[in-house]
This record gives sequence, C-alpha cells and structure tokens, in this order.
Amino acid sequence: MTAILELRGVGKRFGAFSALRDVAFDVGERETVGLIGPNGAGKTTLFNVITGFLRPDEGSIRLAGQSIDGMAPAQRVARGLARTFQTAMVFPGLTARENIAMAVRQHAGDGLRWFGGARAASAAAEIAVRLLGDAGLAHRAETPLRDMSHGERRIVDALMSLALSPRLLLLDEPTAGLTRAESDRLLGILRRNHADTALLLVAHDIDIVFGHCDRVVVMELGRVIGSGTPAEVREDAEVRRAYLGSTGG
Ligand SMILES: Nc1ncnc2c1ncn2[C@@H]1O[C@H](COP(=O)(O)OP(=O)(O)OP(=O)(O)O)[C@@H](O)[C@H]1O
Ligand SMILES: [Mg+2]
Repeated sequence: MTAILELRGVGKRFGAFSALRDVAFDVGERETVGLIGPNGAGKTTLFNVITGFLRPDEGSIRLAGQSIDGMAPAQRVARGLARTFQTAMVFPGLTARENIAMAVRQHAGDGLRWFGGARAASAAAEIAVRLLGDAGLAHRAETPLRDMSHGERRIVDALMSLALSPRLLLLDEPTAGLTRAESDRLLGILRRNHADTALLLVAHDIDIVFGHCDRVVVMELGRVIGSGTPAEVREDAEVRRAYLGSTGG
C-alpha cells in the first residue's frame, strides 16, 4: 500500500497540556480511515496539525511521500490536501451550484486563471453541475443553500471540498446531526464518485465509521491506543474499555 499520509511521532502541547503525544499512523492512497475517540482525544487538533493551522512540537508529516513540515496551509492544499469547509465559508443565500463553483475557483487559484474571467466562471459552473449531478442533487442545483435540508447541505459541503479532486480529504464530523440514512448516503457518494480521494474521517457514530472505513485509528488523551480493521478494533480490549464503554463479554 502506498501511503498518501504518513504521521510519525507527532506531538502538540498547549502550555503544559499534551494534546497529542507520539501520534503515528499512515493513510494509504484511496483508503478510507476512520479516526475515533472520546471528546478531547485530540482528533480536531490532529487535523489542525495536518492541515498546517497548528505547528506540531514534535514529529514529522509526509504527504504523497514528501515532507510538509513547516509548509503553509495553502501549500498543503496545492499538494492535494483538503478538509471539509467550515459552515462560515458557505453562502446561504447563494445556490448549491454557485457555492460549489465558488469553491472550485477558490481552490483552483492559478489553475483556472488561464481560462480568463468569463471562461473560468463557466468552467467552474460546469464542474459544480457535474459534481451535483453525480451526487444525485442535480434537481437542487439552483436551490439556495438556506432552503436545503441539513443533510443536503452536508453533501454540498463535501462537494465543495472535493471540487478539485484532492488526494486526501479530512472530514471532521461531517455526519453530525444527520440521520443514519443521510450519513450512509453522504459516505456512499464520497466513496463511489471520488474513489481516488483518500479519506480521514472523524465521526462519533461508530456504526458509521465501522460500516464505511477500511481501517480505524482510535485515540484517547492525545495518544493512538489502537488501530486495525473495523473487526479488529471492535475486538480490541483496550479500545473497548476506553471508547466503546464495554467491559467485554
Ligand atoms: N487552542 C487550544 N488551546 C488549549 N487547549 C486546546 C486547544 N485546542 C484544543 N485544546 C485541548 O486539547 C484537547 C483535544 O481537543 P480536540 O478538540 O482536538 O479534541 P477532539 O478529539 O476533537 O474532541 P471532540 O470529539 O469533542 O471534537 C482538549 O482537551 C482541548 O481542550
Ligand atoms: Mg473535535
């Protein structure tokens, strides 16, 4: 398996508090890896370190075989790293198509500039319409985001991040507030239509994680305490104690 992401000995402190300690694992190309753990385990902190919004105190990170240590967030994006958009970056009054097209243009930067203004706009709109169509949302392309359901908006969020076919997409609780069926639909779209993009997925619903991920990494108090296939993780005694709230049996 070729790794798209390699974490080695990653540590992050906030003052005297260790939020991440010696975190090490890989995500393979095209792989879907679940990242689970109780509140405060360090999952979001790890995402911030991977994306370059926080600088780690220790360790090294490689993306597609190259060190990204010290690299600015935008440089990491240019090398194929994406995360789901914060809600704040979405424009509720604009349509699904307009929001995604905007993300395409923002992501593309220089990539679409050679088209020239009007050409770039229509190229971005075409990509947006195609992404919505693949996700079964063609009929919602001209609907303002504020009139869409929570589940549909979450799909649009994901499509915005997928606008430029990243090699690795980090998803921090994309299924929060979604029904089981909506969560399955969102992850199904990601896996089916964007199989070349590896996913690192944080979710609190472990049925979702176990159901959609090739491998699962479990964190507690800033450390990795277990990893493996969903079946392996389900049987791991320490994971059961720490996270699944089970005493076994
Ligand atoms: N900027 C910060 N300054 C100080 N402490 C922080 C900061 N960011 C996070 N922490 C602390 O680091 C720990 C890990 O937080 P983090 O948000 O990464 O956990 P999480 O696994 O994402 O939890 P949740 O499942 O609740 O989202 C927590 O104890 C949190 O209070
Ligand atoms: Mg978090």
